[in-house]
Amino acid sequence: MGGGMAGEDNGFAGALVPKPRSFRRREGSFIFPAGGSSQGPLIEGDGEFKAEMDAAAEGFRNPAGGAGAQGDACARGPGGKIRCFRLDSPAPGADGEYYRLDISPQGVMVRAPGGAGIFHGLQTLRQLYLSGGGEIPCGEIEDWPAFPWRGFMLDCSRNFFSIPFIKKIIDALALHHISVFHWHLTDDQGWRIPVPRYPLLTEIGSRRFDNRRGRYLGGFYSHDEIREVVAFAAARHLEVVPEIDLPGHASAILAAYPGLGCTGGPYRVEDRFGIFEDVLCAGNDGIFDLAASVFDTLGELFPSKYVHIGGDEVRFNRWNGCPKCRKRLEETGLSEGRELQSWITVRLAQMLKDRGKTAVGWDEVLEDSSRYPLPENAAVMSWRGVKGGVEAARRGRAVIMSPNTEGCYLDYKPCDDAEEPGQLGVSAMSRLHNLDPAAGIPEEARHLILGGQANLWSELIYAGKIAEYMIFPRICALAEALWTGPGAEDFPRRLEEHQKRLDKLGLLQYRGV
Ligand code: ACM
Ligand code: ZN
Repeated sequence: MGGGMAGEDNGFAGALVPKPRSFRRREGSFIFPAGGSSQGPLIEGDGEFKAEMDAAAEGFRNPAGGAGAQGDACARGPGGKIRCFRLDSPAPGADGEYYRLDISPQGVMVRAPGGAGIFHGLQTLRQLYLSGGGEIPCGEIEDWPAFPWRGFMLDCSRNFFSIPFIKKIIDALALHHISVFHWHLTDDQGWRIPVPRYPLLTEIGSRRFDNRRGRYLGGFYSHDEIREVVAFAAARHLEVVPEIDLPGHASAILAAYPGLGCTGGPYRVEDRFGIFEDVLCAGNDGIFDLAASVFDTLGELFPSKYVHIGGDEVRFNRWNGCPKCRKRLEETGLSEGRELQSWITVRLAQMLKDRGKTAVGWDEVLEDSSRYPLPENAAVMSWRGVKGGVEAARRGRAVIMSPNTEGCYLDYKPCDDAEEPGQLGVSAMSRLHNLDPAAGIPEEARHLILGGQANLWSELIYAGKIAEYMIFPRICALAEALWTGPGAEDFPRRLEEHQKRLDKLGLLQYRGV
């Protein structure tokens, strides 16, 4: 940027990622004041925004977001303050996420209709700060998101990620205005959340014997740790959506409570990866007692209105061969085991509704559901391409697009450009950057498209550093597609600059081949 001409700068836009809606360059620069009590707080403003200002101030004091190198990184200078105020005039953008940022040599003003916008404005400022070394170009930014659900999922079952690592990632997501942290807490390879009435879920279900390493792997998050993550995310305007995967991917549940399976076991917490035949028995009411206790626990820990109930990759062979499941088929008027999944989904979604929550399921929850259709308030996360999402919207259900065909699976090999559209096994930056979750959706159903999401499954991700390499910078491309809209100009050049910021946050990154 440097000094020089003032005016429209919508291409390079301070090398911001996501690119703001508008960026007007002004002459001069703002020098960050020194931190420290003798000169008062770095950021001040309306008391109602204290949480946002405190969380953002941490990002200025310590660029690595509390998880890396310590120290006061603020430039020493005579510059003015950063002030945050409520903007009362109506603004575009999802639920108060709009913000205005005015940067002049005398000071910085962040204005927004609510805390979310204030926080986003401060994160944009943090980006400029991270690349400006305490001196940033003056300008005026006006900004708001294209979609409210800008998500990232971390699989903490296949690999148990530590709380400091999760916080480091959430802080880096916040820098990109990501709004949802989808926490995949259970799977065949480990159950990660204590449920008081079902203590064996963690006592047995959180550990697996790893044959390759010859030792037990595992762990779970205490309720205090979960509250800490939820509060850390909330202060950064990310909503934490927990996922409890039911009725498949349930080996850890079955190892703990074998009576909930069709055969009675024995079962084990899986150390292999794949899709397993054993699932929760659809004929056993005990699975709903368990779900009720789990949902009660989630209700106490997670303020989000959404609970993800999984529903992916359920095998139906056990149901077809199980006397209890066959009895259930008779009771429900269904004829084939596979149809029981929709019956279970409807019950789980109702249980959540009774608790004031909304169910989200992977796109399989739409299948074989003519007799027991997905409840109206439930949402669908489309992962096997976009077709499940398109169909869900056609049926009037809310949708989050997370197609593995378009790069949203960050466990797939990173690349810059996919050789062919829809190619599985690779995740191309270009496809993520061009993702339009509402593509192909008729105008009257567009409001059902909440947004999009990237997922990191962790079968092969056995260390935080590998996770970072897989997440960054591909998540930046998706964050821009969901905030600014698909294909915003000058992305490669801005990204190159932006990756230097991520280096300062201590994140390992993919950098092309
Ligand atoms: C999934 O990837 N099984 C949702
Ligand atoms: Zn059964």
